[in-house]
Amino acid sequence: MSGKRLFSTCRVLRHENPLGLPRSGTPPSFPRRRGLPEKRKIRDVKKVVAVSSAKGGVGKSTIAVNLALAFARRGIRTGILDTDIFGPSIPTLLNLSGEPRLDENNLLLPLTNYNLKSIVSWGPLDILFLDLPPGTGDVQLTINQEIVVDGAVIVTTPQDIALRDAVRGIGMFQKMHVPVLGMVRNMAFFQCPGCGQRTEIFSNGYGSHKAGDWGVQAECRRLGVQFLGDVPLDARVCEDADRGVPSVVAEEGKVGVEGIRREAFLGIAERVAREVGVKW
Ligand SMILES: Nc1ncnc2c1ncn2[C@@H]1O[C@H](COP(=O)(O)OP(=O)(O)OP(=O)(O)O)[C@@H](O)[C@H]1O
Ligand SMILES: [Mg+2]
Ligand SMILES: [Zn+2]
Repeated sequence: MSGKRLFSTCRVLRHENPLGLPRSGTPPSFPRRRGLPEKRKIRDVKKVVAVSSAKGGVGKSTIAVNLALAFARRGIRTGILDTDIFGPSIPTLLNLSGEPRLDENNLLLPLTNYNLKSIVSWGPLDILFLDLPPGTGDVQLTINQEIVVDGAVIVTTPQDIALRDAVRGIGMFQKMHVPVLGMVRNMAFFQCPGCGQRTEIFSNGYGSHKAGDWGVQAECRRLGVQFLGDVPLDARVCEDADRGVPSVVAEEGKVGVEGIRREAFLGIAERVAREVGVKW
């Protein structure tokens, strides 16, 4: 491992674009070797979980960071890696800043906040979350081909179109022999902070008031994957993320309606832990 290369990774995460990568347009394709490359395990990392979505902007990074924090706050050794080199979000979400420093052995120290280690060299981990860019492009293919990914969490919103794409995304993971741990449905309903009543945002996809077996939960049943849970549409999820204190941390110690966002993430995290085989 060359320190130089790792260093440039960090700089990418700081939005400085040192590699001169295009900020938009078609991502460059990476050369692919002939035949099936052998998947490698990341050293000292017990489990790798990819958080993925077919569409952009459905809440992948928000969910990845809150899930990772749910693990980290339980004392599980947890890391998160932002693999979206075109538009990284993790440094903002975790309020990370500054250059990574070197330890006495000249190894880069990971940037840490809320006991969650981000980027580069992290020492032994029980679980590493990969925040994937949206879609099924080269970055996703390369990651799934080159390293052992123990499971994928698929994030979708309830709209038909997003769900159809999510189902295609599940197909990609299955083709690449990556177990799909389940689907998370984001922003299906709004829960009133006053009385706790739920209002469904989209007429389709939530599924309780229409005849027929359809929507995210029905797709999960059809495909034989777990429904991991709901994250409500809530301005606080967004505000907490924007100020770098994700809801799992912001709502620690809060009870009842004050802690519903954190509860939602914890429920999903526990199901992920069970599916991937990490002691909760
Ligand atoms: N449940 C929610 N309630 C309110 N806002 C949300 C929720 N989930 C995500 N958001 C907001 O939606 C926006 C997009 O979320 P996020 O960046 O996590 O999506 P993404 O899927 O990672 O996007 P990209 O595809 O660009 O990587 C952010 O502003 C985030 O704060
Ligand atoms: Mg993202
Ligand atoms: Zn109300």
